Amino acid sequence: MSEHDEVYEDAVLDLSGESLGEEVASSSPFFVSKKAAAVLKHEILNRYVVPFASKVGRYAPDGRVVYLDSYAGPGRYEDGTPGSPALILDAAARVAGFRQLDCYFVERGRKSYRSLSQLVDEAKDQGLTAHALRGRAEKHLSAVLDRAAGSPLFAFLDPFGLGLSFDALTQDIFGSRARRGLTGRHATEVLLNFNANAVRRIGGLLTSTKQTPSKPATLSAMDAACGGDWWRQEFLDSADNQEAVRRITNGFVTRVSHEIRSGSWTIAVRNRAHHQVAYNLVLFTRHNDGMWLFGEAVSLAQVEWRRAQLPPEEDGMLWNPIDSFEEEEAFRAQEWIRTIRRNIERLLVSKGNFLVDAHQREIMAGVAGEAREMHIRAAVKELYKEGKTGCTGVGSVRQLRISSV
Ligand SMILES: C[S@@+](CC[C@H](N)C(=O)[O-])C[C@H]1O[C@@H](n2cnc3c(N)ncnc32)[C@H](O)[C@@H]1O
Repeated sequence: MSEHDEVYEDAVLDLSGESLGEEVASSSPFFVSKKAAAVLKHEILNRYVVPFASKVGRYAPDGRVVYLDSYAGPGRYEDGTPGSPALILDAAARVAGFRQLDCYFVERGRKSYRSLSQLVDEAKDQGLTAHALRGRAEKHLSAVLDRAAGSPLFAFLDPFGLGLSFDALTQDIFGSRARRGLTGRHATEVLLNFNANAVRRIGGLLTSTKQTPSKPATLSAMDAACGGDWWRQEFLDSADNQEAVRRITNGFVTRVSHEIRSGSWTIAVRNRAHHQVAYNLVLFTRHNDGMWLFGEAVSLAQVEWRRAQLPPEEDGMLWNPIDSFEEEEAFRAQEWIRTIRRNIERLLVSKGNFLVDAHQREIMAGVAGEAREMHIRAAVKELYKEGKTGCTGVGSVRQLRISSV
């Protein structure tokens, strides 16, 4: 059986009965080579886990931070490109001098698990702490949570379709740890893939007249994933699939954040700028530092995603797409800075003076997930030069106090 078949088999056997993402349904097998959507996903993960571990590990006994990847895949693509496990093991090696990233990888597919456990064995030989667990994410969750007691935890939940239930996320993961404290050594963060294809296809069952035996179970699985059947009306009230994905993702994120009292980031992931959303990556964090660090990671990851859209450079080309890429990036940055300036000026009118750290949402309105701290600094410096603020823009961006002159 090929990896493609195995992935297909896994997806069909999934409890949801409805798991196949468009990555798998496409003609190219999922784990052969990486699509642009995965470039963004992996860049975000790669750029966030190290800052997370560095920050929260300060409060952890022996600097130990637990990382859980519940839908790990084979670890590497067939062409050798790192999948999420290989990326994280590489990150674990980079921080090994000052943090112990204790990694748990869960994978249900037989062939994927074989390759994953080989990768994990290599990592152990290098002195890293890593575990490959075979089976369903749900089956291993409570044991991993037990192992994570007393240490910060970062969980990456990246299924093809529906993943852990709403209750497993809010009660088992966040609820079990909330009793012991919210931040520091008990910090808990989750990055999850909320699959847009699953919303489109399962939502489509609501209006389909075709009666299939699996339909009631599939709809119930979506209820369990969303924490109730509220999503059904959202789907029916939406003008099209795009609106349905947006409303249901927002509804899910709002409900989870409310339940666990966290902040969140939602990043739409596409294979091409004009494609429909393949999935939304959602971060749940209870700490302001998490909100800022993730914003930086996403902004930098988006640059790499845009770079991945470039056509390959060929000998004898008259026009080099790389050159115009840098120009376009500079143009984008100017636009972001203009938006941030407007947001800051609005805040100056309403607040008189304010600390950047406490107003990320308002300052980044319209450019969240695109711009980063360096663009805030550039905006403040421009306003200073024009005499619109007494703040010079020098020093830590988050600690800048912006005041009118
Ligand atoms: C999207 S892929 C993971 C990709 C991987 N996180 C990466 O970024 O390289 C999802 C994986 O989850 C596995 N899977 C599906 N259902 C599962 C379950 N209930 N528990 C654990 N793994 C599951 C599939 O076999 C597949 O390898």
